[in-house]
Amino acid sequence: MAGMIPREFIDEVLAYTDIVELIDSRVPLKRSGANHMACCPFHGEKTPSFSVSQPKQFYHCFGCGVSGNAINFLMEYEHLSFVESIEELAQMAGMQVPKIAYTNEPQKQSPEQFELLDQVSNYYQYQLNHHSQAQQVQHYVQQRGLSPEIVKRFGLGFSPPGWENVLNVIGAGDQNKIQALFDTGMLIKRDEAHSGHSNKSPYYDRFRERLMFPIRDRRGRTIAFGGRILGDGKPKYLNSPETRLFHKGQELYGLFELKQALRKIEKILVVEGYMDVVSLAQFDINYSVATLGTATTAEHLQKLFRLCDEVFFCFDGDRAGRDAAWRAMNNALPAIKPGKQARFMFLPDGEDPDTLVREKGKTGFEAEMTQAMTFSEFFFDSLMKQVNMDSLDGRSKLIDLSKPYLEKIQEGAFLTLMIARLSELADIEKASLLPLLGIKSATPERSRKAPQDKAFNSSMGQTRQAPSPVKKAITYLLQYPNLAENAGDPGRFLSLEIEDIGLFVQLLDLLQNDPHLTTARILAHWQNSTQHQYLAALAVEPLLITDEQAISCEFNETLQLLTRQYQQQRLTQLERKERNQGLGALEKKEYVQMLLSIKSD
Ligand code: CTP
Ligand code: MN
Repeated sequence: MAGMIPREFIDEVLAYTDIVELIDSRVPLKRSGANHMACCPFHGEKTPSFSVSQPKQFYHCFGCGVSGNAINFLMEYEHLSFVESIEELAQMAGMQVPKIAYTNEPQKQSPEQFELLDQVSNYYQYQLNHHSQAQQVQHYVQQRGLSPEIVKRFGLGFSPPGWENVLNVIGAGDQNKIQALFDTGMLIKRDEAHSGHSNKSPYYDRFRERLMFPIRDRRGRTIAFGGRILGDGKPKYLNSPETRLFHKGQELYGLFELKQALRKIEKILVVEGYMDVVSLAQFDINYSVATLGTATTAEHLQKLFRLCDEVFFCFDGDRAGRDAAWRAMNNALPAIKPGKQARFMFLPDGEDPDTLVREKGKTGFEAEMTQAMTFSEFFFDSLMKQVNMDSLDGRSKLIDLSKPYLEKIQEGAFLTLMIARLSELADIEKASLLPLLGIKSATPERSRKAPQDKAFNSSMGQTRQAPSPVKKAITYLLQYPNLAENAGDPGRFLSLEIEDIGLFVQLLDLLQNDPHLTTARILAHWQNSTQHQYLAALAVEPLLITDEQAISCEFNETLQLLTRQYQQQRLTQLERKERNQGLGALEKKEYVQMLLSIKSD
């Protein structure tokens, strides 16, 4: 969906945004020379190494290495997605995100629906303390061990007994409101045949006499509810249906509360129940969320992996729990990216996270978490149960069983690891295993070239190889975009077979078309590409020379060098052709001119 926001719009939003203002309102900045500084909000530190540059519209931390533009900042700091960050910036700038960004959402959500659901939530919360049955509900809440603070943080409430509370109190006889309450799932329509001849309202309340858990979206707006019966009875939980505001496959209960509670999210624990999330929070485990009666989807997981690197799934230890875990595993496969880990935790029989944390406390519960299976343990353990590992046949079957799953994993370190483990378990050389899996090489081209490779004269003080001229030229261009102006037609470099040349030509081309781009806006063009991080690192690479004229000289030298390389390559090409089939008249002319120009250099 990110690709659906027009490039020009992102450009425009960034042009309207001032990164210093944006960050300063969240992390107060102090002016220091050309930059603004603060203690880095992304890692703990006592002396400021987080710097924000107004001209570059870019931030960089010399301590932990994070960097980026206004969009990246919101993504990191507020845990927003790419699209959400743009929406946020657009809102601040008073701009409307063009409609195609919303093609994922069938209809536009109406602000009125959000507001009504918030009113309903407030009403329920009030009833929890003031209804004539409040004491009974409070008793239930206490018996479940929840403190008033936790009740408040999660906005728990009480839907009173009676069929027309929300209808009358929030609907208040206003047909538009009643319709909206129906659309958001708060009201149910009576069977026409029955309501026809009475003067009853055609609607009644969905939730009655239940402990209510509001489900909130990323901004904290209520979008749905789950309601638990007080005591025994069926159904134990009742949930809002899927509505325009509420898509179960996308939302996670407790995610808003989690983001509010934590500045830095190291891990997230996915559990099954509302009560589990609230109960864990009561024990100061503030990093859990619950799926909403559905299996974990790839969308859920992408959301979680955007926020942290490690996701724990918690399941019952029984057969049903194992099956659910396998489904989650299968959905997780395509979402695991380099550096991301999914782990599986199985609970003892008859326990759920709520009961376990009450028994063992925070420390005991977290100790259990350290025992969680790694992805590959769980994966191969489950498959090995289906074959006889003592026989050659069984081990070869293990390979067959693994294949369709391995195919879903993105290339990179994680896949390499899984393959290495399979080779160990099946007792077969990696070289013989790869063809069986239909893979040519275990270290694909993409992952061999480390994209995060820090550029030259790195501020971290490591000694590194001198950068390639192209890399240097890219760095200069990113930091001094106006160098592009006199660089001539970049197309001539395209045939050069050297690293990063494509990137360099693209960059040059971009800048020649729009010479006024800032560093931040240039980077936005690579926002969703694998090269973004690479470019972002180069954009903040401290340069040994800072004098603009000297930089311009160096840049031109690099261009000349590239031109010479191009000429050499072309000469060799022409010479080869001359030997094999002879040159045409134009080619001969080109050859001679090239020889002359090289001699005169
Ligand atoms: N659930 C549901 N409808 C039900 C039962 C369960 O939607 N009739 C969902 C709810 O999201 C619930 C989760 O499944 O939170 C887990 O259900 P369960 O294990 O039965 O309940 P607990 O979370 O253990 O709730 P409690 O401790 O209150 O019994
Ligand atoms: Mn429970």
